[in-house]
Amino acid sequence: FPVDRIRNFCIIAHIDHGKSTLADRLLEMTGAIVKTQKNKQVLDKLQVERERGITVKAQTASLIYSHQGQQYLLNLIDTPGHVDFSYEVSRSISACQGVLLIVDANQGIQAQTVANFYLAFEAQLAIIPVINKIDLKNADPERVASQIEKVFDIPCNECIRISAKLGTNVEAVLQAVVDRIPPPVASIDDPFKALVFDSNFDHYRGVVANIAVFGGRVRKGDRIVSAYLGKSYEVNELGILRPDEHPTQKLFAGQVGYMVTGMKDVKEAQIGDTLYLKEQPVETLPGFKPAKAMVFAGMFPTDQSDYPGLRSAIERLTLNDSSVTVQRDSSMALGAGWRLGFLGLLHMEVFNQRLEQEYNASVIVTAPTVPYKAVLSSPRLIKNRRGIQKNMVYIDDKRVMMKYLFPLNEIVVDFYDLLKSLSSGYASFDYENAGYQAADLIKMNILLNGQPVEELITIVHRGRAYSAGKAMCERLQDSIPRQMFEIAVQASIGSKVIARETIKAYRKNVLAKCYGGDITRKMKLLKKQAEGKKKMRLIGNVEVPKDAFINVLKRK
Ligand code: GTP
Repeated sequence: FPVDRIRNFCIIAHIDHGKSTLADRLLEMTGAIVKTQKNKQVLDKLQVERERGITVKAQTASLIYSHQGQQYLLNLIDTPGHVDFSYEVSRSISACQGVLLIVDANQGIQAQTVANFYLAFEAQLAIIPVINKIDLKNADPERVASQIEKVFDIPCNECIRISAKLGTNVEAVLQAVVDRIPPPVASIDDPFKALVFDSNFDHYRGVVANIAVFGGRVRKGDRIVSAYLGKSYEVNELGILRPDEHPTQKLFAGQVGYMVTGMKDVKEAQIGDTLYLKEQPVETLPGFKPAKAMVFAGMFPTDQSDYPGLRSAIERLTLNDSSVTVQRDSSMALGAGWRLGFLGLLHMEVFNQRLEQEYNASVIVTAPTVPYKAVLSSPRLIKNRRGIQKNMVYIDDKRVMMKYLFPLNEIVVDFYDLLKSLSSGYASFDYENAGYQAADLIKMNILLNGQPVEELITIVHRGRAYSAGKAMCERLQDSIPRQMFEIAVQASIGSKVIARETIKAYRKNVLAKCYGGDITRKMKLLKKQAEGKKKMRLIGNVEVPKDAFINVLKRK
């Protein structure tokens, strides 16, 4: 395909506005998949995506479209809609020259419609607004078109009105892709240069990189260099995705495809890396801004002997999800593990689920926290912890867009659910990092008979310290069995105790029910008791079952 007959575009939208359904229709109409009733979100390949009905990974598909006697190569990238996966959208955009901005004909512009529009707008991509679900009874495409004109300054008549579900007017979308999106600026005569915009790990072939070719051509058997480490590799396999891998002999300027180089170590693979031919070095491409983790949680193997397996699972999965940050961590109660950073709570859940489903891993995830910056022993002002309104714009007579400044930990956990239920599902929500701000936070310790328990240290707002301390003491009291002496469970701030529960002394005599002199039975019971003790940790003189930490740390 000559470069002027290639179009690279992605589909962006608010969650559930119909991106993956439109992708199904585009795949069918271009013959990439057979048209059947069963094609439902074909590009959502992961088990977690199927189960949750949402896209979490961007997926590429190359389509061949015949238009006015010419054949065009359309490279489509379907992206996730939820804010937690916006890193996928920003990376996909870097491989494209245009976007289809899908808006639900009933719901109209929502928070991620705005956020994703700006990602595309700032990257100066051609934007084609598509109003979807016109078949719905309550669809109001005209109102949505005027919202689009008002908020994005795109004339009403540029909106394409479709039903992705029924296939109505979808042909117009393909035509618009060819007519309104410019071909990539890439010349086949330049030296080979490609951007690695995504990767995954294949058990047999090693790293499989998704690449966008910005210049020249590459052949199977060529020797290429990864700019990131300067190491060279032989191209073992390459091809396009339709959406399944379709090997080819070459990839040309303007194309999007995959490449296998026998790279086995995920540390060598870097998202945003530039690839070039060994004898033809090029200037490296700008790559990607690293994602900024918002929510942190500890991950530990349920059984410490699984540590090496879990380490390789996490490394391989972070190759496919480069927005996750990983640091080694260890805890007295849970052993060796990691501290992982995520873009949000859903992201954390999905990552955990993928570890279990795709890597068969069994993990303990600790309560999520947000990052704080502590300025030690300097005076702190008491600040209002609630949102501070920044601005408010009416999108039309029914919808308003409001901007607030919030402390992050106020919004990551249950804010979204609460907002949804209070607004009967009408309000939508998106956020970005506004930087660190001073707040009245304190460090709360948990003590067992006066001995601090390191893994239960938490940072809480001063106003909530008492209730949080009390709740933690109560949960611990429930989880630690009685012992031969009384145990004080306390929460403290500095040297001041703010909450206390007591576990009464008690000796569990396992032989109490053993009448008579059956010695083997006695031995069995004592052995069982000793095994039970192995699962305990000694903190000071208190034996704490491992489960106790999990119960207190685990999210409710
Ligand atoms: P995420 O990738 O999770 O952000 O969602 P999405 O934007 O890909 O939406 P998806 O294609 O999964 O569609 C969401 C829901 O809307 C599904 O139940 C679809 O069947 C439905 N839907 C999509 N297009 C149409 C349409 O044209 N009409 C109607 N009535 N329903 C549609």
